Amino acid sequence: MKVPCRMVAEILSLLADQVTPGITTCELEAIASSEAVRRKAKAAFKGYCNYPSSLCCSPNDQVVHGMPSKVPLKSGDILSLDFGILYDDFYGDAAITVPVGDVSIEVKRLLQVTEESLMLGISKAVSGNRLFDISYAIQSHVEQCGYSVVRDFVGHGIGRKLHEDPQVPNYGRPGTGVRLKPGMVLAIEPMINEKSHEVKVLEDGWTVVTCDGGFSAHFEHTVAITENGHEILTRINNA
Ligand code: MF3
Ligand code: CO
Repeated sequence: MKVPCRMVAEILSLLADQVTPGITTCELEAIASSEAVRRKAKAAFKGYCNYPSSLCCSPNDQVVHGMPSKVPLKSGDILSLDFGILYDDFYGDAAITVPVGDVSIEVKRLLQVTEESLMLGISKAVSGNRLFDISYAIQSHVEQCGYSVVRDFVGHGIGRKLHEDPQVPNYGRPGTGVRLKPGMVLAIEPMINEKSHEVKVLEDGWTVVTCDGGFSAHFEHTVAITENGHEILTRINNA
């Protein structure tokens, strides 16, 4: 799984460098799909449950599963990019949220707290802990900072399938849930709203937005639990 995960990390990082006012998410989709092809890999999302694109592009109040659009991004927007690769029968999955041009200090804080919550969750992803130790670490940080955790979508096990058991909610009671063991691989992915946690799916059947129009951020890593800790497979470590 290191191979597809590393590809996801590389491609997301190269996409993040392209995010600037004026670019469209259709252009980002084209880059993502050609970078997968160049690596002889398959973009995991395209065709998954009939999802139409390789890259999920979710600006501003879109939470997840946004589709590439021809509307140019503008300064002050944020953009969540979620990307998955299938290579040699194994999946990798990760997401980032990046600012477009200059964003307000409030919005910067939302991105920072969401990424921090992911890293705090990951810190609990060690052998012997329980699954919802991860969930609680995410939830408590987010709520202490005044934001809310999306409940209708969750992280997941990952491996030979994109979505495997167990589901990994971003809220929960510490000390409960399945015991974590070496060899488990989890996609941990907090989706965090500036205001209410309530979300809805648009008429297109995919795009998830906040009900109140508040911004939403999403960070995700694929994490392997090892004998003595964990390995974040979708992080570029030699940077
Ligand atoms: N990264 C998303 C997830 O973890 C994948 C998007 S689902 C798809 O579930 F249908 F768009 F592929
Ligand atoms: Co995922």
